[in-house]
Amino acid sequence: MRTPFCIGLTGGIGSGKSSAAKIFQELGAAVVDTDQIAHELTRRGGAAIAAIADHFGADCIAADGSLDRSKMRRQVFADPKAKRKLEAILHPLIRRESRARIAAAQQPYVLVVVPLLLETGAYRELIKRVLVVDCDEARQIARTVKRSGLAIDEVRAIMAAQLPRAERLAAADDVLHNDADIDALRRQVEILHAKYLALARAGSHEAGN
Ligand SMILES: Nc1ncnc2c1ncn2[C@@H]1O[C@H](COP(=O)(O)OP(=O)(O)OP(=O)(O)O)[C@@H](O)[C@H]1O
Ligand SMILES: [Mg+2]
Repeated sequence: MRTPFCIGLTGGIGSGKSSAAKIFQELGAAVVDTDQIAHELTRRGGAAIAAIADHFGADCIAADGSLDRSKMRRQVFADPKAKRKLEAILHPLIRRESRARIAAAQQPYVLVVVPLLLETGAYRELIKRVLVVDCDEARQIARTVKRSGLAIDEVRAIMAAQLPRAERLAAADDVLHNDADIDALRRQVEILHAKYLALARAGSHEAGN
């Protein structure tokens, strides 16, 4: 299977991964978003719904046929075994779909958005560079609460399950500092986009194709 030049985009909850990915996409990068794929797999008729209903019971499926996400989130937070089971259903499906999309991409490079890239080591064999979106924790919490309606304590619990900010930054090849407005983020993305285009071009010469 052909593998294009892949950058792994990660960052804590609410740091700005989706916002940054959208800008990269507008500039012409391919974006493969594993959260978005997970969402597609768990909406009405999604490929994971039958297996989830089989294991967790019809109760965890909402009236519209999609996964009842808040119910499931509560269940997996309370029960590590349930969490592992849900992951065992979802992860292989997410990986398979991500790989297919990466292989099909026609753009010069692919940004693979993986919230737990560093925590799980997933996609390491595909990814040439790690890009971390960073912002201070108070902003992370405020943005997530505003967007998702989660309680502050729920956001903190999710953050506690993610890598500490300093460790994430230490693993980064590139960093987007998302502490100001979207225009400031856009300016940084533009610079990185130019860099990634150049790296993708250099990489494809090296590979002789
Ligand atoms: N620089 C910014 N200025 C103002 N709002 C921002 C900025 N960056 C992101 N946001 C807002 O903060 C919220 C979280 O951003 P975004 O969805 O991009 O983060 P994320 O890392 O993808 O979050 P998640 O981990 O939940 O997927 C969104 O509502 C987004 O519009
Ligand atoms: Mg996101």
